[in-house]
Amino acid sequence: MTAKILVIDDEDSMCNFMEIMLSKEGYRVDTAVSGREGLSLLQDHSYDLVIADLNMPEMSGIDVLREAKRLNNDQDLIVMTAYASVDTAIEAMKQGAADYITKPFKVDEIKLAIEKSISRRNLVNENVNLKKQLQDDNSFDNFIGSSKEIVSLKKLARRVASSDATVLVRGESGTGKDLIAKAIHRHSPRSNGPFVTINCAALPENLLESELFGHKKGSFTGAIKDKDGLFRVADGGTFFLDEIGNTSLTIQVKLLRVLEDKIITPVGETKPISVDVRLIAATNADLEEEVKAGRFRADLFYRLNVIPIYIPPLRERREDIDLLVNHFLLRYSRKLDLPVKSINDEAMELLRRYKWRGNVRELENTIERALLLCRSDELEPCDLPERLSTKETVDLVTDSEPINPTLESIEKAYIHFVMSQTDGKKSEAARILGIDTSTLYRKIDRYDFKDFPNRKTPRKQKQADENS
Ligand SMILES: Nc1ncnc2c1ncn2[C@@H]1O[C@H](COP(=O)(O)OP(=O)(O)OP(=O)(O)O)[C@@H](O)[C@H]1O
Ligand SMILES: [Mg+2]
Repeated sequence: MTAKILVIDDEDSMCNFMEIMLSKEGYRVDTAVSGREGLSLLQDHSYDLVIADLNMPEMSGIDVLREAKRLNNDQDLIVMTAYASVDTAIEAMKQGAADYITKPFKVDEIKLAIEKSISRRNLVNENVNLKKQLQDDNSFDNFIGSSKEIVSLKKLARRVASSDATVLVRGESGTGKDLIAKAIHRHSPRSNGPFVTINCAALPENLLESELFGHKKGSFTGAIKDKDGLFRVADGGTFFLDEIGNTSLTIQVKLLRVLEDKIITPVGETKPISVDVRLIAATNADLEEEVKAGRFRADLFYRLNVIPIYIPPLRERREDIDLLVNHFLLRYSRKLDLPVKSINDEAMELLRRYKWRGNVRELENTIERALLLCRSDELEPCDLPERLSTKETVDLVTDSEPINPTLESIEKAYIHFVMSQTDGKKSEAARILGIDTSTLYRKIDRYDFKDFPNRKTPRKQKQADENS
């Protein structure tokens, strides 16, 4: 977009010169011969930059600057001044002018000052957009799902966001634990404070301890100066402790003190420091089991588990798949700068049926990859990874029908399981299953397993042998 500049100078010749010169540079230019005229233009139009002479009768450049600020205009201002009044120019800078140039100036000088200001402004805008985009990405609205599990989970998360309560997010890898933690922070009164995250599984114990709580110079080899821990960095904000199940008992004691007394003690330090952080922890470990085994402190567990949020695996809420697919289609088409593509029924059906062991992350990656591969305006099965369309071994009962599976589906899955264990050897499979071979043949007939082809039953086989 071409930048728009307003030039204010009481000398007509200066206005003319600037207009010609800047237009040639590709800017859009308006001019005004007095501060008042300039201000009235500022009231009705928006500019990226104002260049104003400091010394004008009636209204000086500084007055214009002040008024422009009052109008809440956020454009930069460059002042032009004679050598004699450099002090005033500096005064103008103090009042918020972006730059000043002294008259008479070389064309290159003013061009440079303008370029500097415009590019800084673009950078600021980009940052504002980036920050906004980041915030939007982390809003609850972007946590997609209409299954009753997700709807109630979002309701709970929204409710606790406004409080300072500790939250424990649980769920398999890729279910969105990070995403929900960020959304809680973003919707909390601490949203203007920092959101600090650390993966407790990624660091060895002593390093993790000093990262979290900081250390005093000389407290161990390599501690060459005092270092603030991340808890201090997170002061006033939210601290997200990922994979909390992987912390040692020593660290767990220190975490307990943060939760109970809001204090930390840096490594090698004796005086505790108070910190103001809200804690969100996440894990996909079975913490109850860890507590039983003595690897996780019960008191810490109860302190963390004030508000438990459990995100179920994707395969247990398949009704969310359609929404998620459309969400990622839109997002990645935009990101990859492609026209928005749709998906045909067949491909969608494959996505609905797949197990998604990697949960939403795996689905997201699958869509991104498919968009890159897809040559038409509609995703087809051939754009999807092969593993989705190869007829999978019958899903284990817990996968496909988590709630009250029928006896028949259990039988089917178990027979299939034994058949694959025995490489399809029926007599051996029948022995393991505790049924006779003819019964097994009948069941294979009935369930029509594609990967254990439907051979003739023994009786027919026998007849066939006799006839040959
Ligand atoms: N309900 C959802 N709606 C939209 N995007 C989601 C949803 N759940 C997860 N995602 C996306 O899936 C990806 C993985 O999510 P995230 O990193 O939050 O998972 P996680 O549970 O923290 O996984 P891990 O245990 O491996 O750290 C992210 O890109 C996230 O934006
Ligand atoms: Mg995570």
